[in-house]
This record gives sequence, structure tokens and C-alpha cells, in this order.
Amino acid sequence: MSSDVVVAVLTAAGSGSRLGHELPKALVPVGDEPLVRHAARRLLAADALGCEVAAVVVTAPASYVDEFRVALAGLPRVVVVPGGSTRQASVAAGLAALTVPRDRSAGTDGPSDDDPPDDGPSDDDGVVVLVHDAARAFAPPVLVARVVAAVRAGHPAVVPGLAVADTIKRVEAPDASGAARVADTVPRAQLRAVQTPQGFDLTLLRRAHAAAADAAHDETLAASDDAGLVERLGEPVWVVAGDPRAAKVTTAHDLAMAAFLAADEEDA
Ligand code: CTP
Ligand code: MG
Repeated sequence: MSSDVVVAVLTAAGSGSRLGHELPKALVPVGDEPLVRHAARRLLAADALGCEVAAVVVTAPASYVDEFRVALAGLPRVVVVPGGSTRQASVAAGLAALTVPRDRSAGTDGPSDDDPPDDGPSDDDGVVVLVHDAARAFAPPVLVARVVAAVRAGHPAVVPGLAVADTIKRVEAPDASGAARVADTVPRAQLRAVQTPQGFDLTLLRRAHAAAADAAHDETLAASDDAGLVERLGEPVWVVAGDPRAAKVTTAHDLAMAAFLAADEEDA
């Protein structure tokens, strides 16, 4: 796989119901900027580490597309499109809007009227696509570069993951008081808490989303991450070291940690 070109879908179309802010979560300001801008800037900052992200498609809630364009104004190579009713549907919308830049490497001409029709090799061949959550706005450029490097090294589906610190127990349905009986304790050594950005061979990710399209609009059936769709195809998924800074902002409690990370501008 040549993997010269890196493109990204940045999911930001959620409402943030657990955060409970009046704005969609990705527009909530942390430090001087909304979360989505922190996330996009850190993706683009991977340029300095040898992986230029050539296009970023941001999925926004359909009624906030203009506000997201304002929030991202001035950042290069970023476009905003309406997302869908689930995260999976939003990623699918982002992939549909993704056009891979054709001036792929030095010495390669861009498109011209003389180009043959599109029945040869696909523009997707050898392209790495990152799928990243705006809610993980402080994922540092070094993590972006690590995921891209693993895809370039020949792993077509790569996720960052952290070892699990807590003891994890499986529980039964809660009783009337809300207490739930423990079924068992899950051995922890093999568990990983998975983050974004997740990196894929673009052809593989498009195939995974196409195969799961029927489930995309049903929150109970849709996948909570893209690697899960690749797993459903029976294709291998690889884990590389995650980063605590890629923690997801879910509740108001998480905003305090986000503010701390925003102050650490060394990371972007
Ligand atoms: N997301 C999306 N489209 C959706 C739902 C979620 O693009 N229909 C994005 C969110 O914007 C977020 C990421 O997927 O960046 C992870 O989702 P989550 O943290 O669950 O965010 P929300 O769905 O916004 O939050 P909540 O579940 O609390 O409503
Ligand atoms: Mg959600």
C-alpha cells in the first residue's frame, strides 16, 4: 500500500445530551475555542510530524452547519457537511462527501480534461482515512501520526487503545432498588479502552460502511466505532498505544480536564 495521502472525517454532529449544554457539544468553548476547532487544529498539526492531512470533512448537526463553518473559519482543507442520526450515519455522510485530492505526490499532475474516465484504479487506492471524534478534541498530533504510521506499515485498520485501570465486572439486570448482581469479573489484561483517531485503508472503510448501511439509522444497531464495522466484515483490526489526552468529553465533569489540556498549547 503506498498510503501517501491521508484524509479525515471528524465527527461532530452529536447533540451532547449527556453534557447538557445549550450548544451542540462540539461548539462548546474550552479555553478560547470550541471543541471542534481544537480537534481539527490538532489533526492538521500532524503535518509537522510527516503526515499531512489533505482533507478534513467535519460532520455537523444539520441545523448548525453555518455555525460550524464560522467555528472552523481560517483552517485549511476543512469542509463542513450535515451529519446523520447516529455516529455511524454521520461517518457515512462524511465518507460520501470526501473527495481525495488528486495531486497526490510531487511530480503527479492534477486532474485535466485529458484524464481517462474513472474506470481505472480508484482514487481511494492507498489512501489512509482517519475517523476522529470532535469530542476527543485534545488527541495530540503525535497520536494522529502514530495511527497513520501503523496503517502505512501495512495494518489496514488501526485503533488507539489504553489498558483498563479499573476492575471490570459484568452485571445482571438491576433489582427494584437499582442494585445489580455481579455475574462475573472480566479478566483485565486483554482489555483495551479504544479511542480515536482510528485509521483505515479508505477502500476497506468504505466497504465496511456499505455492508452495515442498513443499521446506520438505528441507534440500537449502529456501531459505536468504525473498527467495529471492520470486525463485522471479519477483517483484522490492530491496536496501537493510545493517549490519555484523547479522552472523550462526555459529561460536564470532563470539561474541567479539557480546560486543563487546552491550556497546554505545546500539544498543538
Ligand atoms: N456524533 C455524530 N453524529 C451523531 C452522533 C454523534 O457525528 N449522530 C459524534 C459526536 O459529535 C462526537 C462523537 O460522534 O464527536 C462521539 O459521540 P458522543 O461522545 O456520544 O457525542 P454525542 O452523541 O454528541 O453525546 P451524547 O451521546 O451525550 O448525546
Ligand atoms: Mg452519543
